Amino acid sequence: MENSKMIEVNHVSMRFNLSKEKHESLKEYLLAAVKGKLQFDEFYALRDVSLEVEKGDFYGLVGLNGSGKSTLLKVIAGVYKPSAGSVTVRGSIAPLIELGAGFDMDLTARENIYLNGTVLGLTPRYISEKFDEIVDFSELRDFLDVPLKNYSSGMVSRIAFAIATITKPDVLIADEILSVGDFLFQEKCEKRMKELMAGGTTVLLVSHSIEQVERMCNKVTWLERGRVRMAGDVRTVCEAYKALDQGTEAGT
Ligand SMILES: Nc1ncnc2c1ncn2[C@@H]1O[C@H](COP(=O)(O)OP(=O)(O)OP(=O)(O)O)[C@@H](O)[C@H]1O
Ligand SMILES: [Mg+2]
Repeated sequence: MENSKMIEVNHVSMRFNLSKEKHESLKEYLLAAVKGKLQFDEFYALRDVSLEVEKGDFYGLVGLNGSGKSTLLKVIAGVYKPSAGSVTVRGSIAPLIELGAGFDMDLTARENIYLNGTVLGLTPRYISEKFDEIVDFSELRDFLDVPLKNYSSGMVSRIAFAIATITKPDVLIADEILSVGDFLFQEKCEKRMKELMAGGTTVLLVSHSIEQVERMCNKVTWLERGRVRMAGDVRTVCEAYKALDQGTEAGT
C-alpha cells in the first residue's frame, strides 16, 4: 500500500479570542460569552497539536468533552484558520463536522440535498443523478418534502451522511455524526465507511464510543485539554484512555 500522508497537522494551536470571535449562532455566542466570563479572554482550544493521517488509515480522535476534537476537525476542514501551525489535506475532503452545518432548517429535505450537495462542491446535475441513491440510503423518502426543522436529529444525520458519502471522497472526516443515528443506521454507516475505505477513502472519526473506535480504527490520537496526550495504535491508546478515571484527569 502506498503510504502518502492524506492529512498533516503540524504544531497547530487554536486560540479563541472570545471578545473578537464571530459566532455562527446566538446560542454559540451566549455559550462562549458565559465561558469567557468563567475563563480567559484568550483561550487555547488546541496547543501544539501534530498528527499525520496516512492513506488507508481509519483514524480515531478521542478525548473528553471540550478537549478540542471538534475544533481540530474544523481546522482540518478549513472552517478555522489555526492561530499557529499548519494543516495540509491531500485530495477531496467530505466534512461531516456539525449536525445541520450546510443545511437550511426552513427548507425541505429535498431542497437541502441540493443545498448541501452544492456546499460540498457537487453540481446540481450530479446531485440529480445521485438523488435516489441519497434518499434510499437515508431511508427518508416519505419525509422528503418536510422542512428539516421538523426532522429528528437522527434524521438530519442520515441525510448529511448520505450526501457526504455519495462522492467517494479522498478524505472523510466525521464528528460524532453517527452517535445520533439508531443502531441499524450506525451499522449501515460503518458498512458504507468500510466500502469507501476499500475504494481508497481515508477516514478521520471522532467518537465517544470507545467500542466503535476499537472496532473501526487502526490509529488513534487522544486529545486532552487541547494537547495530544497520546497517539499510536488503536489498542494502546484506547487501553490508556479507558484507564482514565477522575483521579487521573484531575491530576494532569
Ligand atoms: N468558537 C469558539 N469560540 C470560543 N471557544 C470555543 C469555540 N469553539 C470551541 N471553543 C472551546 O474550545 C474547547 C474545545 O471545544 P471542542 O468543541 O473542540 O471540544 P470537543 O473535544 O469537540 O468536545 P465534545 O466531546 O464535547 O464534542 C472548549 O473549551 C470550547 O469551549
Ligand atoms: Mg465535539
